[in-house]
Amino acid sequence: MRNKGIDSVDEYKIARVLLTEAQIRDRIQEMGAALADRYRGKNPILVTLLKGGFIFLADLSRAMRIPHEVEFMLVRSYEGESSTGSVQIMQDLKQNIEGRHVILVEDIVDTGLTLAYIREHLILRHPASLIVCSLLDKEAARTEEVDVEMVGFRIENEFVVGFGLDYNQLYRNLPYLAVIDPGQT
Ligand code: XMP
Ligand code: MG
Repeated sequence: MRNKGIDSVDEYKIARVLLTEAQIRDRIQEMGAALADRYRGKNPILVTLLKGGFIFLADLSRAMRIPHEVEFMLVRSYEGESSTGSVQIMQDLKQNIEGRHVILVEDIVDTGLTLAYIREHLILRHPASLIVCSLLDKEAARTEEVDVEMVGFRIENEFVVGFGLDYNQLYRNLPYLAVIDPGQT
């Protein structure tokens, strides 16, 4: 069964499964429930950074059983396997977030560069509150000091794909988190 899962997308070269579908699903349910408790009656906005955050957002939003809105930003900070060291906002928020409770939904915090930049960008718009909720945290790779209030899983400093995360735009559709075959990179 496990092997079938690993081979479930033809031609993807998976070395190892880091987090299974079930592990991710259970954790997102917990996170959604915790956020629902905290933001009940506040109609928060979940702001997600595309593209990486799209799968996590879809599951987190459905696990959060209170009224809330979703918004998207398109941000570019990474080429291939290593950070370019710069953050570019390709598409900004269309909505005014002043006075609103904002939850920034991230796929992964690595160096923290993206987050530090986007956090500052959002703070300038005077939300009532702002927290960061990231599915993954590679703490060992951090170069920027930045707060991440809610983390799904802390992982080692290695390149991961699946569940929205890509290697050169592929692998996002893997339903689990994996490390790719070194021959691929
Ligand atoms: P920084 O370094 O700014 O990086 O915290 C955040 C963004 O970099 C991407 N990233 C990864 N993407 N596998 C990926 O597919 C990884 O292991 C990985 N580490 C960082 C990601 O887009 C994230 O938002
Ligand atoms: Mg990416």
